[in-house]
Amino acid sequence: MCGIVAYTGHREAFPIILKGLKRLEYRGYDSAGVALLNGDLSVYKKKGKVAELEEFVAGQSLDGTIGIGHTRWATHGEPNDTNAHPHQSFSGDLAIIHNGIIENYESIRQELVNKGHQFTSDTDTEVLIHFIEDIQKNSNTSLEEAVRLALQKVVGAYAIVVMSHKEPKQLIAARKGSPLVIGVGKGEYFIASDATPIVEYTNEVIYLDDREIAVIDGDQLSIKNIDSVPKTPYIHTIDMELEAIEKGGYEHFMLKEIFEQSKSITASMRGRVVADKHRLHLGGLTEYFNRLMSADRIMIVACGTSWHAGLVAEYLFEEFARVPVEVEYASEFRYRNPVIRENDVVIAISQSGETADTLAAIELAKSKGAIIFGVCNVVGASIPRATQAGAYIHAGPEIGVASTKAFTGQITVLTMMALMLAHRKGTISESKFREFLAELEKIPAKVEQALKLNDQIKYISDVFKDARNFLYLGRGYNFPVALEGALKLKEISYIHAEGYPAAEMKHGPIALIDEEMPVVFIATADSSYEKVVSNIQEVKARRGKVIAIVTEGDTQIKNIADHVIEIPKTPEALTPLISVIPLQLLSYHVAVMRGCNVDQPRNLAKSVTVE
Ligand code: G6P
Repeated sequence: MCGIVAYTGHREAFPIILKGLKRLEYRGYDSAGVALLNGDLSVYKKKGKVAELEEFVAGQSLDGTIGIGHTRWATHGEPNDTNAHPHQSFSGDLAIIHNGIIENYESIRQELVNKGHQFTSDTDTEVLIHFIEDIQKNSNTSLEEAVRLALQKVVGAYAIVVMSHKEPKQLIAARKGSPLVIGVGKGEYFIASDATPIVEYTNEVIYLDDREIAVIDGDQLSIKNIDSVPKTPYIHTIDMELEAIEKGGYEHFMLKEIFEQSKSITASMRGRVVADKHRLHLGGLTEYFNRLMSADRIMIVACGTSWHAGLVAEYLFEEFARVPVEVEYASEFRYRNPVIRENDVVIAISQSGETADTLAAIELAKSKGAIIFGVCNVVGASIPRATQAGAYIHAGPEIGVASTKAFTGQITVLTMMALMLAHRKGTISESKFREFLAELEKIPAKVEQALKLNDQIKYISDVFKDARNFLYLGRGYNFPVALEGALKLKEISYIHAEGYPAAEMKHGPIALIDEEMPVVFIATADSSYEKVVSNIQEVKARRGKVIAIVTEGDTQIKNIADHVIEIPKTPEALTPLISVIPLQLLSYHVAVMRGCNVDQPRNLAKSVTVE
């Protein structure tokens, strides 16, 4: 939530910051702003998308080789020009950009008001920059020291960059709970919420840790922790291609990412599944694998789409490895004093690796002695660094706010984890294990085949684009897929949709069914097929409209459903990897037809770094 970018070096800062903000817009797009130093400290900010800021500043001279920029997802104060970042201090000498929430801002604000400060915005961020200036003046200290003293008093989460009119070569960056990456160029530095604004210029980055403060002064960088203890910066070389973060001819990132899935699933398995040698190995699990082997219970914590992947994992781990699994919303888990025993293992799933609730759930579980495995996409993010073991999904950057390829990547990795555990525990036979490895290797080709249904799904989308509600029903492995299908539709098309276990329909949702109600059934040829067919009959008997995702060659449902989408056959446990594809496409096309902004749906953000 909120994207921040800063630059200092020998180039013009504005174009770099603007491009960076566009890359980070997935994190929030309520308003955007920049501050540039060129003799004066000039701030330009505007409600709306980065493009609106660009239009607003067109024709102005935006010189300066040092500057900061921000794209906002509103927490304190409605999205408007005044609440947009950067915010300035009382004197106007300092400017700040901030991602996170300062929880004790109200008491600090009151203290400052008593001293005569006046605030122009409703934000916690403006309070912080006033506070920093107040400390600097009262203690007659350096800006760096004032930032440090202020942050010691602050409760909450932040990634900030501060600049000062009086220190024209300095950028001060700090983080706690919100991500911050520093790109190290030749005589220039880039600071951003993630590496996407940086990769175009350098692949050398430093991930700032919590409670660290970085000071860039000219071409010098130093990092200390909040208690002034110097740290030696560790420079990582990142491997991210520019084309991975561009649309590459697709109309939207979401569509590109849907179509990338056969490639991204292959990437998730690369070097891990070697079916012809009957080998499956996830190196990141090795060190703590014994803990997984002896786990009495696995607890999965996640949010949103990642939580749905966790539900699929529940079926996988229980079926194959015969270990009980509980799947928890991280936001509930962290506040309900959960019982965590010595032999419990926690798996945290997160695309971004930055979700605040998931991070807090991890910290809680750790404090109770649990071992945490992470399943994340963004390399070097906070969650992979906070967990003791785990596996990246290697799906490549996911930029569309609605998660697609991360979901299939997460399920691929969780399937591999479950199979690896089952194999070592002996809860799966050697022949079944080999069969599943071979089937896993066939998944990318089947995904490719499912993507060929795009035109048919576009046609169906046109039929139902004006519906006001949708129901998604599935059983077993396809129940979480039903939840995910409904989530995708509501996120990007703003049509109300509910996912339900098909058998539960008769305990409530059936009351909603009439000729206006489209019901999407995921009715593949698996163990509950006949029962789902009965549920379809029940919907048809009440004149509901049925769109059924079925296995290729199905004849029975063809005779009852209004629309049938045939997907390739795969073992039941691997079905979600294929059955979710038509649902992603359905939501995409419906949203486009309704004129919605698919990549930037209203009110949402991709990285939820506030609780
Ligand atoms: C937000 C995103 C979702 C995502 C969820 C969890 O709500 O819009 O797409 O599933 O956060 O994010 P994570 O990065 O932890 O998977």
